[in-house]
Amino acid sequence: MNILAIESSCDETAAAVVEDGEKVRSSVVASQVPIHRKYGGVVPELASRQHVQAILPVIEEALSRAETSLAGLQGIAVTQGPGLVGSLLVGIAVAKSLAYVLNLPVVGVNHILGHVAAIFLDFSGLKFPFVSLVVSGGHTSLFRVESRTRMALLGRTRDDAAGEAFDKVAKLLDLGYPGGEIIDRLGKEGDRTAIPFPRTLLEPDSLDFSFSGVKTAVLNYLKGLGGKPSPSQLRDVAASFQEAVVDTLVSKVLRAARREGIREVVVAGGVACNSRLREKFSQEGKESGMGVCFPPPALCTDNAAMIGVAGFHLLQEGVRADLTLNAYSRMNIG
Ligand code: KG4
Ligand code: ZN
Repeated sequence: MNILAIESSCDETAAAVVEDGEKVRSSVVASQVPIHRKYGGVVPELASRQHVQAILPVIEEALSRAETSLAGLQGIAVTQGPGLVGSLLVGIAVAKSLAYVLNLPVVGVNHILGHVAAIFLDFSGLKFPFVSLVVSGGHTSLFRVESRTRMALLGRTRDDAAGEAFDKVAKLLDLGYPGGEIIDRLGKEGDRTAIPFPRTLLEPDSLDFSFSGVKTAVLNYLKGLGGKPSPSQLRDVAASFQEAVVDTLVSKVLRAARREGIREVVVAGGVACNSRLREKFSQEGKESGMGVCFPPPALCTDNAAMIGVAGFHLLQEGVRADLTLNAYSRMNIG
């Protein structure tokens, strides 16, 4: 079954053709980063307008790279939320139109379920249940994943998402946008033990997160320097901030896995590209006898292939949307 998947929840216009939920025949991502960079963050109005311009060429490119056409499709999957409503609506309008004209089943996919589903492309034999951390610019949440389509929320951030904290700290350091990748690179050259930024673990039994404290601590540290940080101070702040975030994420995931009695962990979402996060999770996983896996980096940041995988499994279960399919800025899961 060839599914055309469409993702337009934030600042990437993406389309993919996925076969049987396991083979990515094409995955095209048109990034809007250059458009939003000068504003230091995503401007929703600009994002919607850009999706309108990009969506049809991106779909055409995905079909062409998959060496197929609209006639070769058996279903359509589209991100329904959470995300920017104006952006989501562009993908949804196209998905519904195609489904109507081609008489194909269409299904709305939760973006966060999509991030987790990316793992099934590389680890098809993964055993359920497992614990999943979805850590991105918009989300930092922990789930108990029961099946390819069902998961229960264990904890979530009470303020900033981890990726948002990376982006905001990069802005404070005047490093550019988006900040995660830049801090990752810079942090490799810094001393991660230089500044003891706080690890906010909240109540002893809590599986929630909070990243506003570490962000404020970086701001106060910079104020305390009384001037522009030197290049070596910048590297140390980047490395120490990153270490604080990574430590917090690792501790919470291990806490969740222990509490749930689960020994398998999946880390997904844009921040799962972070090299120190991958290194520390792998190290801690080995020490505590926990299996930790990540989708490849290109499938961690927003893409449509992950929506195609989740969409396939939903369609297999008989889930269908009709022409009332709508966009939601927030969507509960589990
Ligand atoms: O999953 P994603 O593309 O979009 C959302 O659903 O939010 O994630 C984007 C986020 C941004 O905040 C970006 O700074 C962060 O992922 N990110 C990273 C890295 N690469 C992307 N954060 C830390 N280290 C990285 N290497
Ligand atoms: Zn995402």
